[in-house]
Amino acid sequence: MVGIDDVLNKLTTVIDPDLKKDIVSMGMIKDLELNSGNLKFTLELTTPACPFNEEIEQDVRKAIDQLDGIDNFDMKVTAKVTEGRSVSQDEFLKDVKNVIAVASGKGGVGKSTVALNLSLALAKTGAKVGLLDADIYGPSIPLMLGMKGTEMDVEMDQEKRKLVPPEYEGIKVVSFGFFAQTEHQAAIYRGPIISGIVKQFLVDTLWTDLDYLIVDLPPGTGDIPLTLAQTIPITGILVVTTPQEVASSVASKAIGMFDKLNVPMLGVVENMSYFECSKCNEKHYIFGKGGAEKISEKHNMPLLGTIPLNSGIMAGSDLGKPVMITQPDSPSAEAFTVAAKNIAAQCSIQHYKMKEEAEAEAKWDGLSPEERQKILDEFTLEELSTQVLPEHEEEDEVEMQNKTWAELKHEIQVAIIQHLFGKPKVQTTPTTS
Ligand SMILES: Nc1ncnc2c1ncn2[C@@H]1O[C@H](COP(=O)(O)OP(=O)(O)OP(=O)(O)O)[C@@H](O)[C@H]1O
Ligand SMILES: [Mg+2]
Repeated sequence: MVGIDDVLNKLTTVIDPDLKKDIVSMGMIKDLELNSGNLKFTLELTTPACPFNEEIEQDVRKAIDQLDGIDNFDMKVTAKVTEGRSVSQDEFLKDVKNVIAVASGKGGVGKSTVALNLSLALAKTGAKVGLLDADIYGPSIPLMLGMKGTEMDVEMDQEKRKLVPPEYEGIKVVSFGFFAQTEHQAAIYRGPIISGIVKQFLVDTLWTDLDYLIVDLPPGTGDIPLTLAQTIPITGILVVTTPQEVASSVASKAIGMFDKLNVPMLGVVENMSYFECSKCNEKHYIFGKGGAEKISEKHNMPLLGTIPLNSGIMAGSDLGKPVMITQPDSPSAEAFTVAAKNIAAQCSIQHYKMKEEAEAEAKWDGLSPEERQKILDEFTLEELSTQVLPEHEEEDEVEMQNKTWAELKHEIQVAIIQHLFGKPKVQTTPTTS
């Protein structure tokens, strides 16, 4: 007779295409009950926006079909967005599961447009989304949403006063534009005050219970991106670029800064990629081709979407009507939806990477120096010294067995995680739906 073991064994053959792991070991099977041929369980997916949800569900049904002795099968499918940030060390924003910062090297590449439409696309999948316009120098989100005259309330929240964000199509929106008296007021503020404002928007806003908080950053590598990276744990950075070489090489600089701050990179979205002519139905690559692809290869991060040039996008943002709302069936809206799903998938990947790291840390710190040496012996010394350690640090190899996880170099931690869990196969996600 078929047993729970058989069911679980069968289900381990279903692999999440993004995370490259089987659904059982990832804990996606919940509340499993098997009573004389009646099988019931919940399949808990990692985000409602995952591009592979339907595929996983179908694979589960196929796998169960192959089992003999199941007369009735009842599967509930739910999705729970996983937390892609380590909040334990930090009390700030603990109700926000993922913080995604949208950055670019150059200005005017469409960061705000992308941040806004991605927020709307994520919200459409059923996720709870917030949008923080952290461009204090030139807040453009209020204009793009037709919320220019909007004011924010301040609510008494026990002893602390908190900002209550206004909502647009279900997303919570905060922008300095709701406060600035005149359009150019922000320009007079200096670094420390600007950082203070950003911190306040992050920490003193009632962002209750969000799956994704999207932060629209000003271009480049100034005070605001730095404040953000140092104030709260971020799930990852989304880089927006245009196809031109110049935009992409500037983007590399911004990527370098976040890398130094140890902020994970989720991937890159290319905006204004091509123009699809409605007469000839051909794609014209007006600004050239392949800029984002180059960044993706150079920095080993996935290309998560390509957004076409569309006059509707431009007209819409000037009129305060984003294309996700005005033209929900257009190729542009479709492109944003695909990108949003890929980004959600990357957040889930980030969650599992963090989980692996926590497990590796617990394991390492629980081992004796001899046991640690055994693990280290399994890397060939040559591999360690050429790939991980610069030559002059070779003496570190001897001392490594006495170090706690936190004292190990980041490169060594990565090598140990790879040794324990295998090389990460996750990187590229398809950019089509
Ligand atoms: N795919 C697109 N097709 C057509 N127009 C676009 C597209 N993306 C952005 N735009 C237009 O380009 C202009 C700049 O976009 P946006 O303000 O989003 O860029 P940004 O990177 O946020 O700029 P800044 O650096 O000033 O913050 C806007 O007028 C916007 O409507
Ligand atoms: Mg902007």
